[in-house]
Order: sequence, then C-alpha cells, then structure tokens
Amino acid sequence: MTSSSWATPPLWNQSPLMRAARGEPADRVPVWLMRQAGRYMAEYRAVRQKTTFLELCRNPDLCAEVMLVAVERLGVDAAILFSDLLPILEPMGLKLEFTAGEGPVIHNPIRTPDQVDRLCELESIEPLEYIIEAVRKTRAGLSERLPLIGFAGAPFTLASYAIEGGSSRSHVRVKSLMYQDPGAFAALMARLARAVTRYLNAQIDAGAQLVQLFDSWVGCLGPDDYRRFVLPHSRAVFASLRPHAPAIHFATGNPALVPLVAEAGGAVIGVDWRIRLDDAWKAIGPHKAIQGNLDPAVLLSTPAEIRRRAREVLDQAGGRPGHIFNLGHGVLPNTPVENVIALVDAVHELGSRGK
Ligand code: CP3
Repeated sequence: MTSSSWATPPLWNQSPLMRAARGEPADRVPVWLMRQAGRYMAEYRAVRQKTTFLELCRNPDLCAEVMLVAVERLGVDAAILFSDLLPILEPMGLKLEFTAGEGPVIHNPIRTPDQVDRLCELESIEPLEYIIEAVRKTRAGLSERLPLIGFAGAPFTLASYAIEGGSSRSHVRVKSLMYQDPGAFAALMARLARAVTRYLNAQIDAGAQLVQLFDSWVGCLGPDDYRRFVLPHSRAVFASLRPHAPAIHFATGNPALVPLVAEAGGAVIGVDWRIRLDDAWKAIGPHKAIQGNLDPAVLLSTPAEIRRRAREVLDQAGGRPGHIFNLGHGVLPNTPVENVIALVDAVHELGSRGK
C-alpha cells in the first residue's frame, strides 16, 4: 500500500534495489534474477508435479508461495510476480496452451493483416484479476524490506507471439506482416500498448513497487526497424505508467538496440551479455540506471568461476550508483541451485559498500 504523508514510509522505499532504480547510492549492489523461481529449483518442480503451468499461473496462493520460497532460498533483493508473459493475450481473444515440449502455443495466431482484429481491445482488467490477486498475495507475504516487481511483455514481444503462434527462431511471420502492412501492424501494436499499460498500472495499484517490461524477442530487428515499428509503442507504455513506480526496460539479443531501448523509456535499462556493461552504460547515458548482465550459462560452471565473473561485471559498473545486478536473461533449467546461491552471495560480498 502507498504510504500517506504522516505515516512512516515503507521500508522497501530505502531498499538497495529501489535506491539503485532511482540512481541513488546504496550500501550494496542489489541482485535478483530473471526466472529466479523455475524448474532449476526442486521446490518449484515439486509444485509443478501437482499442477500444469497455466493452472499454477491461475492460482494466486501458489504463485505467491513459489516466488516467496525462491526469494527466501536465494536471499535475493527483490521478488518478481510469478506469472508469464502470455496470459494477457487470453482475454484479448487468443487461445493459449503450454505444451511440455514446445513451450507456449497459440492455437489461433494472427497470420494476415485482415486477422489483426482477432486480437480485441482489453477493455477491463477484470479477466486478469487472478494475476492482480497474485500481486497482492505476494506483497502480503514478502518482507517489508524487499520490493516486489510486476511485469508484462512489451508490445513487440507480445505481437510476435500472437503472430508466430509460439516461439520462433526467424520471426519471419511477424516481420512479413510488419513489412506487408505497416498500418495493420501499428494498429496491433497500439492495441497491445494500451493493454500492457492498463495491466502494469493495475499491478502497481495492487502493490508492485517497480515494473519490468520484457522485450525478449525484439533483438531480431535492426535499429531502423526498431525506431520505426517498435519505439513509439513502447514509449507510449512508459509515458502512461504511474510515475512513482520505476520501470525496468529489458531487451535482449541485439546490443545495437541499447541506445534506442533507453530512448523508448524506463528508469532502468536491462541489458544482456552481448555487450560489456560499461559500454552499455555509455550508450544508455549517465542519467539512467542499468540492470545486468552476466551470461546465465556462467551459472553452469563452478562457484569460483561464478565469483570471478560476477566481479568482472561489478568492476565494469565501477561502483557507480544505479547498478542492479542480474543475469542477461533467465536462469537456465539445468542450473544447480547452489551455483545460483553462490552468485547472490558473491554479489552481496563483492558489491558491498559498507555505508
Ligand atoms: O522470473 C521469474 O521467476 C518470474 C516468472 C516468469 C516466468 N516467465 C515463469 C515461467 C516471468 C517473468 C516470465 C516471463 C516470460 N515468459 C518471458 C520473458 C523472459 C524471457 O525469458 O525472455 C518469456 C519469453 C516468456 C514465455 C515463456 N514462458 C516461454 C517461451 C516458456 C517456455 C520455455 C520454458 O522456459 O519453459 C515459458 C514457460 C515458463 N514461464 C516457465 C516459468 C517458470 C516454465 C514453465 C514450466 O514450469 O514448465
């Protein structure tokens, strides 16, 4: 809940993560990990034995439990809502399934410009109330010292799923619709941007202190196409978010997009390992915070190597305020949990500034 002027501000306001997101100095470098609750963790696998992934996403108590257990086990500096990018597409008219082998599948994808209206306007957040309830339950169970991050897919990544019908390597269907009929594509992106804005603001109102916009697939585009087809829509989202909740803008796959991603918006820019963190920060500019950027595959090595590589990332940040340590993408499913804990401990030790 937001504090009123006479009440003591909640402790999460001064947490290392909130301070870093605002570009303020903190006594240590905060760390959390994308996919910190996932199949690499035995506790998560135990829950998943009893329920499908979508059933889990629809159960607010279980979503909260899965994330709170992960936060406790790892000792990270934030929780992220446990959900997925894609449930938002269901009330917009798409039929979603998660299959064991292929991951997400959309049974009625948009393939031609005249099918764009298959994706309808998200008129109300009501059908996603179960996710908003998961935000409330996670916030209620979390230590007051730790912030909760809400999230959504960015318009391009969601459009990509809606058009490809699932994961894709070449992204050739989304690109062909985009190049064939820029007007229809822009209408689709604008509709998604309105839906995402409404969804993220509802998460903030329900108790998320920050939000992250995932543009996981945008790296398939070059800079000129990003500027023309994506940037205006992502910018529209950031421009309409509640101003008190800092936004993290994450993209992966193409370092040439980093300055444009920063231009589109977000107080914090999330970068992957394909660019050095110091170079990325130069491209972003000194007035924004940065999140990243260890290669998740480093977690498949040894605690000594993980510590060495964590130090390299911290050295590139150079102790400047505004660094949130994270991986450059999600924890891989075959990662040993001890290695993840070793990383969190290493960042806390090496990134401590002892005020
Ligand atoms: O970070 C967290 O711990 C919070 C939960 C979270 C999940 N997905 C849980 C999940 C978040 C923030 C996401 C976002 C998400 N979902 C992204 C953006 C991040 C990224 O990886 O780029 C994307 C692209 C998706 C779409 C998605 N969800 C795919 C492609 C898959 C299948 C591949 C896979 O890893 O299984 C999922 C499933 C998924 N989302 C799982 C989890 C824990 C695994 C589901 C299972 O239990 O089988």
